[in-house]
Amino acid sequence: MVKRSVVQPNTDWTGKYRPTSEPTTIMDKAIASAIFIASLLPAAHAGAAGDAQRGQVLYQSRCAACHSIDYNGVGPAHKGVFGRKVGSAPNFAYSPALQQSSVVWNEKTLDRWLANPEKFLPGQKMGFTVANAKERADLIAYLKQAASQ
Ligand code: HEC
Repeated sequence: MVKRSVVQPNTDWTGKYRPTSEPTTIMDKAIASAIFIASLLPAAHAGAAGDAQRGQVLYQSRCAACHSIDYNGVGPAHKGVFGRKVGSAPNFAYSPALQQSSVVWNEKTLDRWLANPEKFLPGQKMGFTVANAKERADLIAYLKQAASQ
């Protein structure tokens, strides 16, 4: 014969049915909402600002073949790029598209540039795109930080 458990699952001591997924006391509810709020914070932070440290790692692996912060290479030096006018690194031979642009680099313009440089400034000569929006945000956070050093 199969021995049955005396305590039924999903019932409290009065025998009342309680679904396991629902918080049972005020304290449970408080803990549940605290956990819920805490879970939102890091995501909101990363989405808004981008992570400069992750951006630095991405920069070294994706951009450093052509760029550095301090020196012109295949691409222009990025020192001070955040907040300066497009095509204004000293002594870099920009394409006419960038020389003639009056756009200023900020979060929005850098995001559009990295997503699709040719669509943003047609005739440019940077043959590289970053498809992932989170990676673009991280890279921009890094450029912003590097620009202010
Ligand atoms: C294959 C080489 C190459 C790679 C890789 C590359 N770039 Fe560029 N980048 C260029 C060139 C060349 C220009 C100048 C474009 C022009 O004059 O039309 C440029 C221009 C830029 C500019 C404009 C700067 C200014 O002074 O106006 C930014 C910002 C930029 N690149 C960011 C990046 C970032 C961030 C990455 C990495 C995700 C990256 N680039 C990867 C070659 C590259």
